[in-house]
Amino acid sequence: MLDPIIKVEDYTFYYPDSQVPALAGINLAVRPGEFVGLTGPTGAGKTTLTLVLNGIIPNFQGGRLAGRVTIAGRDTAATPCARLAGIIGSVFQDPEAQLVAETVEDELAFGLENLAVPREEMQARIAAALEMVGITALCHRSLRQLSGGQKQKVAIAAAVALRPRVLVLDEPTSELDPRGTMEVIALLARLNREYGMTILLIEQKVSILAPLVPRLVCLHQGRIVADAAPRQVLAQEKLVAELGLEVPPVTALFRLLSRTGVYHGDLPLAVDQGRRELDRLLGM
Ligand SMILES: Nc1ncnc2c1ncn2[C@@H]1O[C@H](COP(=O)(O)OP(=O)(O)OP(=O)(O)O)[C@@H](O)[C@H]1O
Ligand SMILES: [Mg+2]
Repeated sequence: MLDPIIKVEDYTFYYPDSQVPALAGINLAVRPGEFVGLTGPTGAGKTTLTLVLNGIIPNFQGGRLAGRVTIAGRDTAATPCARLAGIIGSVFQDPEAQLVAETVEDELAFGLENLAVPREEMQARIAAALEMVGITALCHRSLRQLSGGQKQKVAIAAAVALRPRVLVLDEPTSELDPRGTMEVIALLARLNREYGMTILLIEQKVSILAPLVPRLVCLHQGRIVADAAPRQVLAQEKLVAELGLEVPPVTALFRLLSRTGVYHGDLPLAVDQGRRELDRLLGM
């Protein structure tokens, strides 16, 4: 098996002056090419974990900590954030807050300049990232004229242009409308499938993650309380209730059908799976 690209070992973190750990005894290993979903209720520690992975904790945000985090073998506490940015790309909730330039092209160039990528290589990298994300046509557009979904794709392209080994996205669709959400989710699935990009997607809505990722990690009060295939996680009714996880409606319906003895198969996670199971059930 390939060595983990993200390795979090016995990691505990307290924000300054806090008596309660934001992260407590976290162990997490993610291997190259994995697509991992991370969920949990508000305040569970999801954003804190992203800040730990991209080195903002402890390089910019202080606090008390124990344990170790390595990204592609580098200890994040001993690696400057700018260096880590070339290894682990971050995309945040609000596309407005993370875009700094006037045009799409300049936005991508900005990150590459910070990494001191030679000028002659920059154009090729920008073109490749725009192509990967499917927004080549937006290259010369002003960021102000783009939709929320398009802006979020620019933020993803800007991260991808740095050729990171891992992409971490902290609720990237929470500010988007349903269409923008669908577009960004489809893009992430494609980056993982076609380019083998390692992705950690943080998302409160399990209905988005369940049909998308093979592995779902649940955080609760700073601890990992589940790390398994979404179907296995959703089968734990007590956990689902305790964390207030939003189960996909089709999964909830089939759970009801299994409980009443009408259905015996695997719980479907997406509507099209549910439809197939229903057709089978009705002998169609
Ligand atoms: N800068 C900070 N200083 C002190 N405490 C903080 C700080 N940022 C977060 N916390 C606390 O750390 C805990 C984890 O917060 P975090 O933002 O990581 O949760 P989250 O899972 O991302 O929540 P949400 O779903 O609301 O984004 C919470 O109890 C929060 O109040
Ligand atoms: Mg958060």
